[in-house]
Amino acid sequence: MRSSHVQYGKSERADVLVVGGGIIGLVTAWRAAQRGLGVTVVDPEPGGGAARVAAGMLAAVSELDHGEQTLLALNIASAQLYPDFVAELESVTGLDTGYRACGTLAVALDTDDRAQLRELHALQGRSGLESEWLTGRECRRLEPMLAPGVRGGLRVDGDHQIDPRRLSAALVTACERAGVVFHRAWAERLRVVRDRAAGVTVAGGAELGADQVVVAGGSLSGRLAGVPDEVLPPVRPVKGQVLRLTVPRPYAPFLSRTLRAEVRGSHIYLVPRENGELVVGATSEELGWDTTVTAGGVYELLRDAHELLPGITELPLTETRAGLRPTSPDNAPLLGPTALPGLHLATGHHRNGVLLTPVTGRVMATVLTTGELPDDARPFTPGRFSPGLPSGRPATVSPAASPAVRAGQEQHA
Ligand code: GLY
Repeated sequence: MRSSHVQYGKSERADVLVVGGGIIGLVTAWRAAQRGLGVTVVDPEPGGGAARVAAGMLAAVSELDHGEQTLLALNIASAQLYPDFVAELESVTGLDTGYRACGTLAVALDTDDRAQLRELHALQGRSGLESEWLTGRECRRLEPMLAPGVRGGLRVDGDHQIDPRRLSAALVTACERAGVVFHRAWAERLRVVRDRAAGVTVAGGAELGADQVVVAGGSLSGRLAGVPDEVLPPVRPVKGQVLRLTVPRPYAPFLSRTLRAEVRGSHIYLVPRENGELVVGATSEELGWDTTVTAGGVYELLRDAHELLPGITELPLTETRAGLRPTSPDNAPLLGPTALPGLHLATGHHRNGVLLTPVTGRVMATVLTTGELPDDARPFTPGRFSPGLPSGRPATVSPAASPAVRAGQEQHA
């Protein structure tokens, strides 16, 4: 396919313009460029966003929830793509992504937590997923730093991890190597010409033209001015506070796999990296655009982590941060074409942005080159949130669309 990326005086034109340079925008750009399309990514800081905060669990099995069976199929498809995806990305860029096939252990501390975990085990079994029930003693044999009070656990050998900051850096490099152009500015407004998405106007007034536009702006995706109301993605921010600690050499290995638990109804996870970083997350708060790290959030995470791993209070606390998960009404992503010709979405990944990165790249590259959503992505069409909109009827642009948010919030994957 012909790749086109043309400069006309002050205005540029690409085949595909991706609004948002987080991991979802980057993987879309990379995969589209590999298929021969001329791609521009518009973002003031490509490689930023949610992945700066996310822990990077690839937890298709251990994060399974009731009512998310449709999403499960996509999660599993992406988890299966991960080894080859990482191998290709690392070979193209020469960069390490911190992918670690370490597995996960989910544990319970009291009778209620254990009953919940038993229920999860049953749900996993009904869904055809592999996990093994362990006694408290068996859990401690696997992870000797666990508290003596652990009552039982679930061993999930297929749920791995990646370092999202390294993943972002590798995707930026992969994009550069594939010829993707980065326009380092905020996208201010979608341009619609003759009832078709035709590009964006960026901060400073430059106009970027494109045959197709992909909005991949994480939790900001619903706030790009100029997008018709009917196709504005219904994505809201869900705040997550995350801590980073460091395991000094005498303690290593403090934890050999990802540890998860529900402690008195709150979810907690601890993700140990090979370089000694231990990521502890995450709160889940409906507080709009707030990204304050609070004493209460840090306290609750450390309190629950301490109940699981008493030795954690000896570790240096090296970073506290809050990010915003881009969350849709059904917690599943919005992928593919909208009712406005030329406008696509790749957003709304909620808790699964890192996990869904490989499959999102595959799906979006297919849509952008063929115009068709692959079968496994059909349940995630943006049209599911506007069922009354007749297909083919051009969406109309509301002059009242909200201006793009410019506060530089981090979005959480
Ligand atoms: N997937 C982990 C989180 O969103 O906290």
